[in-house]
Amino acid sequence: MSDSIHLTDNRTGKSYDLPVTHGTIRAMDLRQIKTGPEDFGLMTYDPAFMNTASCMSSITYIDGDRGILRYRGYPIEELAAKCTFLDVAWLLLNGELPNSEESVEWAHKIRYHTMIHENLKKFMEGFRHDAHPMGMLMSTVAALSTFYPESRDVKNKQSRKMQIMRLIGKMPTIAAYAYRHNLGLPYVYPDNTLGYTSNFLSMLWKMTEPKYDANPVLAKALDILFILHADHEQNCSTNTMRAVGSSQADPYLSLAAASAALAGPLHGGANEEVLLMLDEIGSLSNVHAFVDKVKAGQCKLMGFGHRVYKNYDPRAKIIKQTAEEVFKVTGANPKLEIAIELEQIALRDEYFIKRKLYPNVDFYSGIIYQAMGFHPAMFTVLFAIPRTVGWLTQWQELVDDGEQKIARPRQIYTGHDERHVGQPVEEHAVSVAR
Ligand code: SDX
Repeated sequence: MSDSIHLTDNRTGKSYDLPVTHGTIRAMDLRQIKTGPEDFGLMTYDPAFMNTASCMSSITYIDGDRGILRYRGYPIEELAAKCTFLDVAWLLLNGELPNSEESVEWAHKIRYHTMIHENLKKFMEGFRHDAHPMGMLMSTVAALSTFYPESRDVKNKQSRKMQIMRLIGKMPTIAAYAYRHNLGLPYVYPDNTLGYTSNFLSMLWKMTEPKYDANPVLAKALDILFILHADHEQNCSTNTMRAVGSSQADPYLSLAAASAALAGPLHGGANEEVLLMLDEIGSLSNVHAFVDKVKAGQCKLMGFGHRVYKNYDPRAKIIKQTAEEVFKVTGANPKLEIAIELEQIALRDEYFIKRKLYPNVDFYSGIIYQAMGFHPAMFTVLFAIPRTVGWLTQWQELVDDGEQKIARPRQIYTGHDERHVGQPVEEHAVSVAR
């Protein structure tokens, strides 16, 4: 038996042996299958890439049936329990966990890049007071591109490293500034004596006190949530990062595009939608009626379902455990009991079981964020900050992958055959209203 498949084209009677590697055939191997010299050759048709591998990657492994998620081989459960977000960022970017010296230097380097140019504050002040933070975040990230034109040299490894540190350092600052803009509060500069998440909380919530004292339980919970959201192989926004990056756009513009994809309610925008859904349900007594609406196809159960996980999202389990720690500090979020009731009903109901719909990363994260004091509009921003590491890691892998070229899918044309313009429409004198 060989690692190949044998195909017979019934249109011509010809047979072909196509090699199978990594459980795939190369789509380009199909092009030899033709009905004649004029035939372009066989293609695959795969809307939404349901069954198409776009790259080879050694970063993140997901087994959707078994609910497994690993970054560079390490189970997410162990990373969340034993590491810091910045150490996980180093792991994703460099392939190994940092030693203590590397860890200290890395944290120092990131802290060194938390400030943003004063002109960017003016740029952000141009937004309406109620501008959605994701709109402000992605626009400001794109604007960063104009401050670092050297970032266009994407083949320069040193420049890439610098832009990566800048983005990881600056994302929390931009996010916090967007939040403060919505509240009409003055921006709080980074306090580089603080850790990554404590500094972020300080920029969000420091008022007139001389130094913000972040609650260590909340800072740790946010660090764990950042680890859980750091990467997730070829999801919609990462695919966007790779597609835009494949044109050799700079990492700021590519990351702004990825942020735009994340903002969609079916993707990273789902955590905000979950809270709006729980608000709509309002009380335990309404849960069953809402589930009936979902089953009637009138709406989706936001925070449920996943393209890859056909079992419980391992991140949702860890988030649920983290919620208990947060609620000890903040007090329980009353919406938690509605969420738990929804989950209990859905996990027993044939509609959800048949479709393998389980809670995903977004189902419980919003409940924690709200309990911590975040407005739902900030939830996707809280997803984008850590996913910046995953987007940049995937982008870096793309740029270094000799097999990759500019992404340009084919299509099945369903439009008109050639046709010709008739007599040009007579120019009618435009009557100017007197
Ligand atoms: C993220 O890809 C990633 O890795 C993403 C992510 C990451 O870390 O990057 O994990 C983050 O985006 C998590 C997903 C967050 N989105 C939501 O919670 C929104 C609600 N979920 C759905 O929209 C949906 O489950 C998706 C978008 C997540 C997945 O969609 P698929 O794989 O295209 O599945 P589908 O829409 O084809 O659904 C299959 C069936 C359909 O029913 P039938 O037509 O067969 O009758 O399941 C139903 C769907 O209607 N279905 C749901 C549902 N999700 C799917 N029905 C009710 N509620 C839902 N949430």
